[in-house]
Amino acid sequence: MLPERIKLVEVSPRDGLQNEAQTIAVKDKLALIHGLQAAGVKHIEVTGFVSPKWVPQLADASAVCAGIQPAAGVHYSALTPNLKGLDAAIAAGIKEVAVFTAASESFNQKNINCSIDESFARFAPVLEKAQAHDMQVRGYVSCVLGCPYEGEIDPKVVAQVAHRLHQMGCYEVSLGDTIGTGTPQKAAHMFSLCAEQIPTAQLALHFHDTYGQALANIHACLPLGAAVIDASVAGLGGCPYARGASGNVSTENVVYMLHGMGIETGIDLAQLIQVGQQISSVLGRSTNSQVAQAFSG
Ligand code: HMG
Ligand code: MG
Repeated sequence: MLPERIKLVEVSPRDGLQNEAQTIAVKDKLALIHGLQAAGVKHIEVTGFVSPKWVPQLADASAVCAGIQPAAGVHYSALTPNLKGLDAAIAAGIKEVAVFTAASESFNQKNINCSIDESFARFAPVLEKAQAHDMQVRGYVSCVLGCPYEGEIDPKVVAQVAHRLHQMGCYEVSLGDTIGTGTPQKAAHMFSLCAEQIPTAQLALHFHDTYGQALANIHACLPLGAAVIDASVAGLGGCPYARGASGNVSTENVVYMLHGMGIETGIDLAQLIQVGQQISSVLGRSTNSQVAQAFSG
């Protein structure tokens, strides 16, 4: 019932760093990206082409992309909320982009300044142009297990929004527990409703770890066919428009659990831990990953 292999999507250069108040040098972001690929990570979300007024930390998106030394077999992606972002991503040589909406109207207004329906109207030309450029487009649904403004979210609404993204051409739909309030049974129920609409191989789990539930929530979705997991080294992350939300599930913890279950990731855990230590020292704090702490302690 369990997959032999999991596709891990590393989101630390984007989700992990987008909420940091301190300026992080482009060279440090590049060291993170290059360290991740050297550790065997094949899918890296490197930045977001979003408004620098909304997310100042990612104002260097083009410079980051320009500095990447591509490695064979590694896919580099970036967030693009609109055509302006897509055009910048194309100019930067990015081949995979992600659009992002939510299952909560209130969160969408705070995060991308539009309703759910308006977000789809914005995405239509983004998908059309991206496809014309042979680019792959991923779709994110935020607030799948709770919203910082609306509280409980109906999982049927999550499945509807995910289905719309898939129908409009997103090759993969990432289900974001933005504020990490989910618990295993709710996560499994939400995932199974989405899986009624979209093949499980095209669904990704994007769980933040605010309440320490992310690994348990992932574990609950694995027997249901989940095969793609978003994670962030050292457990970095958080959304500037979801107050109190902490980092993504740490990649080290996910890799440790999967390898322990006999599931392949292609990632060298020892090397990954070093990458997490390096970026944590740049940020001047200790890692959020218990696995990294245990190995280094
Ligand atoms: P807006 O203010 O409604 O847009 O923002 P606008 O079209 O009126 O433009 C306002 C200004 O931004 C203009 O500049 C535009 O040119 C500029 P001005 O004329 O004032 O000088 N602008 C841009 N600049 C660069 N790149 C662009 C871009 N677009 C407009 N792409 C907008 C709407 C969507 C742009 C804004 O709300 C935005 O950028 N939001 C992004 C918020 C964000 O990045 N949040 C974090 C990522 S989502 C997340 O973390 C959740 C996730 O991890 C999953 C989960 O955990 O749930 C994915
Ligand atoms: Mg996120």
